[in-house]
Amino acid sequence: MTFTLHVWRQRDRDAPGRFVTYTAAAVDPDMSFLEMLDVVNEELIAKGEDPIAFDHDCREGICGTCGVVINGRAHGGRPRTTTCQLHMRHFRDGDRIVVEPWRAKAFAVVKDPVVDRSAFDRIVAAGGFITAPPGGAADANAIPVPKEDAELALDAATCIGCGACVAACPNASASLFVAAKVAHLGLLPQGRAERWERVLDMTARMDAEGFGGCTNHGECEAACPKSISVHFIGQMNADYLRAWLRRGRRAPQALDVAAVR
Ligand code: SF4
Ligand code: FES
Repeated sequence: MTFTLHVWRQRDRDAPGRFVTYTAAAVDPDMSFLEMLDVVNEELIAKGEDPIAFDHDCREGICGTCGVVINGRAHGGRPRTTTCQLHMRHFRDGDRIVVEPWRAKAFAVVKDPVVDRSAFDRIVAAGGFITAPPGGAADANAIPVPKEDAELALDAATCIGCGACVAACPNASASLFVAAKVAHLGLLPQGRAERWERVLDMTARMDAEGFGGCTNHGECEAACPKSISVHFIGQMNADYLRAWLRRGRRAPQALDVAAVR
């Protein structure tokens, strides 16, 4: 297969960027999108030119580091698919393919389509630690967790922090990412003690980082390679309201999870 690529090239965050056209030739249909870029880069290096920078690590859809906008869609727009898991057989031979970085004020371009997503790390850090008693780990069966809570928490924990939700949102909101992080700790007994402070601190950090607000477009869920549900944003908003009302009061010993659903 042969493709014409229009790739966003930008030397660093302060330099002006522009699209540069390349030909990707002799591409195997079973190559991933990143492997196709590897082939293009080998040719650029052989010619003494600057290879295209792109983020990647696991190439298995797990780490969340890969992520570019392909033909206007985060990760290329295939359901539940990260850029590293997108294969060239899903394109037509001869296609023109546009490759761009995530576009968001909070994600500054580092180089080419690589962006700085450390704002996500700072949001997670703002969430703090869970209260864990010292000593040996408690027997797992000693902490009863309702099945529904466990499944919801695990669903939320599948977020890989890729940032596609931000790139897809017209407001560049990080609400789906933050909601997933708030939920996967707040739903479980081990993370419930800090539930109310956590949602206040993480959403404050999200705003401080320059992400936009959620206006219920739902593009985040559609772009998410892990199918994180916008339901979690509703739950985060409910937690936020309850936390705000509780501010200054002592939290009760046992929190009623069902009451905020
Ligand atoms: S919510 Fe989905 S799209 Fe957003 S960072 Fe997590 S995995 Fe990526
Ligand atoms: S390289 Fe890890 S998710 Fe794509």
